[in-house]
Amino acid sequence: MSSPKRRLLITSALPYANGQIHIGHLVEYVQTDIWVRFQRMRGHEVHYVGADDTHGTPIMLRAEKEGITPKELIANVWQEHKRDFDDFLISFDNYYTTDSPENEQLAQSIYLKLRDAGLIEKRAIEQAYDPVKEMFLPDRFIKGECPKCGAKDQYGDSCEKCGATYSPTDLKNPFSVVSGATPVTKVSDHYFFKLSDPRCETFLRDWTQVKTPLQPEARNKMKEWVGQPGESKLGDWDISRDAPYFGFEIPDAPGKYFYVWLDAPIGYYASFLNYCQAQGLNFEEWVKPETTTEQYHFIGKDILYFHTLFWPATLQFAGYRTPTNVFAHGFLTVDGEKMSKSRGTLISAHSVIECGFNPEWFRYYFATKLNDSMEDLDLNLQDFVARVNSDLLGKYINIASRSAGFLVKRFDGVVSDEAMHHALLTTITAASEKIAALYEGREYAKALRTIMELADQVNAFVDENKPWEIARDPERAADLQGVCSVTLEAFRMLSLYLKPVLPQVVAGVEDFLSLAPMDWDAVLTPLSSKNPIKAYKHLMTRVETPQIEALLAANL
Ligand code: 2FM
Ligand code: ZN
Repeated sequence: MSSPKRRLLITSALPYANGQIHIGHLVEYVQTDIWVRFQRMRGHEVHYVGADDTHGTPIMLRAEKEGITPKELIANVWQEHKRDFDDFLISFDNYYTTDSPENEQLAQSIYLKLRDAGLIEKRAIEQAYDPVKEMFLPDRFIKGECPKCGAKDQYGDSCEKCGATYSPTDLKNPFSVVSGATPVTKVSDHYFFKLSDPRCETFLRDWTQVKTPLQPEARNKMKEWVGQPGESKLGDWDISRDAPYFGFEIPDAPGKYFYVWLDAPIGYYASFLNYCQAQGLNFEEWVKPETTTEQYHFIGKDILYFHTLFWPATLQFAGYRTPTNVFAHGFLTVDGEKMSKSRGTLISAHSVIECGFNPEWFRYYFATKLNDSMEDLDLNLQDFVARVNSDLLGKYINIASRSAGFLVKRFDGVVSDEAMHHALLTTITAASEKIAALYEGREYAKALRTIMELADQVNAFVDENKPWEIARDPERAADLQGVCSVTLEAFRMLSLYLKPVLPQVVAGVEDFLSLAPMDWDAVLTPLSSKNPIKAYKHLMTRVETPQIEALLAANL
């Protein structure tokens, strides 16, 4: 029934090690995790890896401010991130760090292969420099007055007051955010990955426009960026930074470090390599150009450029396979607006747990909003309460509580095998491949709508058959057992369909129905009289509106 066995390496973007995981991040990890769990249920070989993205100037400066070393900082943040991912049931097979020996070795060897291929060039460039702190300043570490409207304290790229965009050299009275000193211009040697080389252009045009089934929006963006043959739109990519920098040193270039965005995606491979070594898997087989394995990256639309240009080009010219596809999602808004600290809507993952929310409420709600596009999605807090309570509790969980009690009390938990041929069950079984195709295509909103429509049919069946009335007539024991058995088997199949989204609830269902963990094919194996169910235990509680207010207050 399932497709032939596939071998999948799946990643989510690596979060920076200088901040908390918030609900905006969670959209992506939940989206990926649902896909991962679905693929596992289909019987495929799946490896889901992640890591903290640990290098760069902001992390170096934050550690300094906190009076600890960058390594101490990233170790602390790793613990927090790992805790948050575990809390939200994100089932990484390996969660690692980009500051690892595997990553250093891979980054350096990839760089050397690019250099051997003639794709690295050294060039002197001018940059803003902080003469007091003795370091080069990334744009966001320079502030000053807006050249258009004169607003004070504006960043080097755009004015928050009037919206003007400009470069840091246009700012009036510029100052270094690090020391307050006036930046000076200084020349230094930088290393560039020559994306403008005709080999890269030709490869990227083919990879983005022909070879890879990118989302249409992504493909169009790439078309713009890559340009027409001979147009040479791609600029070379500056992959080096000067000391002081927290990162890996570039071979044969003392005092020069890889720019964080060079080693971050290589961190996907480093995490996987670390996992392969622990598991005895053959890493080479997954990353060689002629591999038959698949490689997918889930990301936010803001980092498309890095994943569909720089990363495939890096892999291709260093002699590796390239990604099978890159799946970008949109941004999360809360009640229609950008998440904001002052409104309490920049909600940290940890606060959700601290405020007593069930993480599966969020998994479910995000899934009802997710599709295969890069459109933004909204967390509407009122709708969140309504959806969770009406869909999850009212429609789904309710089915079990309506049928299990009678079976346990009257029939020692034994279902009727005859009931398993009921037409309602045939309908639910028949939806299996449609729902699978929707999960496969990342159309989670549609998958859940289909599942909830089936739940509506099951509830209608219970309403029509009124088991609570049949129960009053001792002559109709067989009818009661039949109706409850149909209902409970329907509940089992709905649980199977919801399992990628609600792994914990469904683990509880498997326990109470005395079932081994269900894979997708288990849809064809109904409950059996040989396997009595246990007493129904409460599977999930309702969300209450005051909890939402408490959550917003906790994030102010
Ligand atoms: O944008 C970000 O948050 C980056 N830390 C994502 C890195 S993804 C990958 F390339 F490592
Ligand atoms: Zn301005």
